[in-house]
Amino acid sequence: MCGVVGYIGNKEAAQILVDGLQRLEYRGYDSAGIAVLDDGKISSGKEMGRLANLERKLEKNPVSGTRGIGHTRWATHGAPSQANSHPHFSSDGAISVVHNGIIENYADLRDELSEQGHTFLSETDTEVVPHLIEQALKDGAASPAEALRCTLQKLRGAYALGVLFQCEPDTIYCARLGSPLIIGLGENENFIASDVPAIINRISEAIYLNDGEMAAIRADGVELCTVDGAAVIPEVKKIEFKAEDAEHAGFETFMLKEIHEQPRILRSMLEKHVSSDGTIDIGTDLSPDYFRKLNRIMIVSCGTAYHAGMYAKLLLENLTGIAVETDLASEFRYRDPKIDPGTLIIPVSQSGETADTLASIRMAKGWGCKIMAVCNVEGSSVVRESDATFFTNCGPEIGVASTKAYTAQQMAFALLSLYIAEVRGNLSRERVQAYLKDLNEVPDALHYVIQKKAEIQVIGEKHHDGPSSLYLGRRYNFPTALEGALKNKEISYQHAEGYAAGEMKHGPIALINEALPVICICTKTADEVYEKMLSNIKEVEARSGRIIAIVSEGDTELSKLTDDVIVVPAVRDEFSPIVNVGALQLLAYYAARARGTDIDKPRNLAKSVTVE
Ligand code: F6R
Repeated sequence: MCGVVGYIGNKEAAQILVDGLQRLEYRGYDSAGIAVLDDGKISSGKEMGRLANLERKLEKNPVSGTRGIGHTRWATHGAPSQANSHPHFSSDGAISVVHNGIIENYADLRDELSEQGHTFLSETDTEVVPHLIEQALKDGAASPAEALRCTLQKLRGAYALGVLFQCEPDTIYCARLGSPLIIGLGENENFIASDVPAIINRISEAIYLNDGEMAAIRADGVELCTVDGAAVIPEVKKIEFKAEDAEHAGFETFMLKEIHEQPRILRSMLEKHVSSDGTIDIGTDLSPDYFRKLNRIMIVSCGTAYHAGMYAKLLLENLTGIAVETDLASEFRYRDPKIDPGTLIIPVSQSGETADTLASIRMAKGWGCKIMAVCNVEGSSVVRESDATFFTNCGPEIGVASTKAYTAQQMAFALLSLYIAEVRGNLSRERVQAYLKDLNEVPDALHYVIQKKAEIQVIGEKHHDGPSSLYLGRRYNFPTALEGALKNKEISYQHAEGYAAGEMKHGPIALINEALPVICICTKTADEVYEKMLSNIKEVEARSGRIIAIVSEGDTELSKLTDDVIVVPAVRDEFSPIVNVGALQLLAYYAARARGTDIDKPRNLAKSVTVE
């Protein structure tokens, strides 16, 4: 969704702001703009489309000053247009605002302000904010800070705001409610950003603003208070990842880089959570006794993280015997789930900022449930609102299509399931060790699959041109089929559907013809569903479907059915999805590449879905 940056110091702000916005490009956007303050005057530049357009505009009409705010917009209220792009201004142009989030009561506020003589130049919800601040100053607010506070008290919805006042040139202001915002701390310069990668090359420490807080930021210091004016002592946190983590490192895209990072991430998760004597540490304060008494788990998440939740349900139920349900956060929050306070809620989220996942956490907290997140971003809202977190620690995921976060979530659930199974006595120590031995093979197996990318590329390119494709899997690999289809549609814009193979006869078999690529995940292990999967594949063959099979090493039978075979190492059934998905990520990747799409920033998508 929208990206926010801000700078105050003694360097030229424009370049720093554009650079920060470039680093936020991955969040998805349709227009961008900056406002810079110099000699008591704000000047600005905005442009539709890619940041390069804004840069060209700023070359022709430079703006100068050592403090400023910038924004990439992902349209919600009002189509992408010059007028709707941020920053927005007060009537007199003396107050400038950038905003991520949605002001839900903007229509009423706009009506009130119109009656007071304000005119609006955009269709956005954001534009009410500079006008409200202006009105508060007219109505006698003693200072810009007080005018901002009065304004915040009137806003309903979500915001991360950056505000520049012509009348207070040594300060930029920011405020947060429901949308992430950090303050980056430098030497005689400070920053604001909606996400760490925007400023990771410039800072090593940051303050994560809490909901209901605002800050006055000067080059030499930061003052925090609540919306009610109570002072807040800031908690300074060290940024754990490095600037290189948010760079291409020689790969043509972030997605390809992140696919390649997976084996290393999985290995380091195993090293971190499993000690040399085979003891699993899940890194949370929840006691073994808590898990012994637990009898129900509810997993909530969206998109790819939901597929990780589906995988987790199968694994947790199988290994721990606990009843587990999983739901899309966007459905969960609007149904009437029968959840008792003893249920453990597990929100799964890469970004930790997904609006529906956060709403589900808040609902469950209202019922008295304990919340244990599986999340990648320290300091994120999901982490802060949960009682405990299993961190996936896979570094910033910049490619919009989630890859490394997914396999790290799968690994987190594999470790969690084994830990719970052992403390509850569902699995003996010896059996857990046997599982861990097999889990340890997974990073190398995934590495092996990634090394086959040239082969996978040939298959991806061969089948990239159809209007649609079907992904089939069973049991542990049913979520893999859904995830493969999601990857394909996100980045190649080809319609793709994931199905439980056993459902074929109940409808989708009607789709099969010689034009339809059918991606069949049929890795051969001890899993009883292998034979069933094989029958499904024969049904596709009988109807001349184009079969692309993901098969285990040594499976000669399946390899006979089709030329398009991706052979992967055989690992334990329960862990095969972590390996198999690597093949599907690459298949989608090369299909998208052949279709010439913008793989890291697919159309219409945003990396972090902070609004409903
Ligand atoms: C798919 C993808 C999305 C996210 C979903 C949840 O590739 O990236 O489907 O998985 O928006 O996001 P998080 O995990 O940040 O809550």
